[in-house]
Amino acid sequence: MPHIIVTGAAGFIGSHTVDCLLNSGHTVTGLDNFRTGQRANLAAALTRPDFTFHECDVARPGVLAALAAARPVDAIIHLAALVSVPESIAQPALNHSLNIEATFHVAEAARLHRVPRVVFASSAAVYGEPVRLPVSESDEKNPISPYGAAKLASEAILLGHAAAYGFVVRCHRYFNVFGPRQDPASPYSGVISIFQRQYRESRPVTVYGDGCQTRDFISVHDVARANALATTASHSGIANICTGQGTSLLELASHFARRHPAAGSPIHAPARAGDILHSIGNPSEAQRTLGFRATVTVESGLAELGAE
Ligand code: UD1
Repeated sequence: MPHIIVTGAAGFIGSHTVDCLLNSGHTVTGLDNFRTGQRANLAAALTRPDFTFHECDVARPGVLAALAAARPVDAIIHLAALVSVPESIAQPALNHSLNIEATFHVAEAARLHRVPRVVFASSAAVYGEPVRLPVSESDEKNPISPYGAAKLASEAILLGHAAAYGFVVRCHRYFNVFGPRQDPASPYSGVISIFQRQYRESRPVTVYGDGCQTRDFISVHDVARANALATTASHSGIANICTGQGTSLLELASHFARRHPAAGSPIHAPARAGDILHSIGNPSEAQRTLGFRATVTVESGLAELGAE
C-alpha cells in the first residue's frame, strides 16, 4: 500500500485528506504540532491500524527528514502552515518560518530520501486581485500579503528542487475551502463557517460591503480528493483547485436564510480593508493534469454542514 506523509494532519484540510487517503487504501503517517490543528479532527483516523501519528514541528530542520529516512515514503502532502492572512501581516517572521522555511525542509526531505512526489498547499492568495476572471495559473501573480508571497515563494522552492533532483511536485492553489471541521471561532475564519454558526444560533450575519463580492467556494471533500489524486501524478505543475463557479455573499446569505427562516436579515458593514472583490478560478488545468473536477455544490455542501 502506498505510504503517504501528511503534514498538518490535524488541521481542517489535513484531517479530511488523511481520511480520504485511508478510505482509499493508503498507509498514512500524520504530523501536526497542534498550533492550530485539533486532535479531535483525527478521531476516526486514530482508530485505524494503517494510521500513525507524530506530534512534531516540521518547521524544525531535520524532523521530516528523520521520518522519511525511517521508512520509504511514496509522497509527502505538505499542508502544515500558518494559515491566516491577517496573522501573516501581524507576524511576518513567523510566516517566513512556518510557510517558507518549513517548505524548504520538505523539499530537502524529498531530495535526501528520494521521495518521488510532493503535493503542496498553495493558495489563490498568490494572485492578489485577479487580473481576469476566471483566473488561470499563468495569469499575473500579485500577492498582497506575506502569506500570499510565502505561498508563491514556496511553489518556486519546491519546483526548483523537483527539477534539479528529479521528483514530482504538484502545487495546489486552493480557492475558498469550506466544510465540516472548519473552526468558526476566529474572526478570520472562512465566511461559511462563520455564517453557519451565526445562523445556527439565530444571530444575524454581517455582510461586509455591498455583498456583491464573489468567491469560488470549494468543498473540503473535493480538496481532499484532489490531494489524494496528486500523489500519483507523473509530472510537476501548478493547478487551481476550484469549481470555476462564483457565489456572491448575498447569494450565500440567501442560501442560509432558506435553511434558517427564523434568523434576521443580514447586517451590512463597511467593506474589509484589502478585501478582494471577485475571486473565481479556472479549473481546467486540474482537470487536464489530474483528472480532477469538483463535484460538491455550495448548496449540497451547506446541506451537509446543516446536518451536522
Ligand atoms: C480567502 C482565504 C485566504 C486567502 C484568500 C485568497 C479563508 C478564511 N481565507 O480569503 O486565506 O488568502 O481567500 O484569495 O478562506 N465576509 C463577510 N462576513 C463575514 C466574514 C466574511 O461578509 O462575517 C466576506 C469577506 O469580506 C469576503 C468574503 O466574505 O469578501 C470571503 O471572506 P473569507 O471567507 O474571509 O475569505 P477571503 O477573504 O476570500
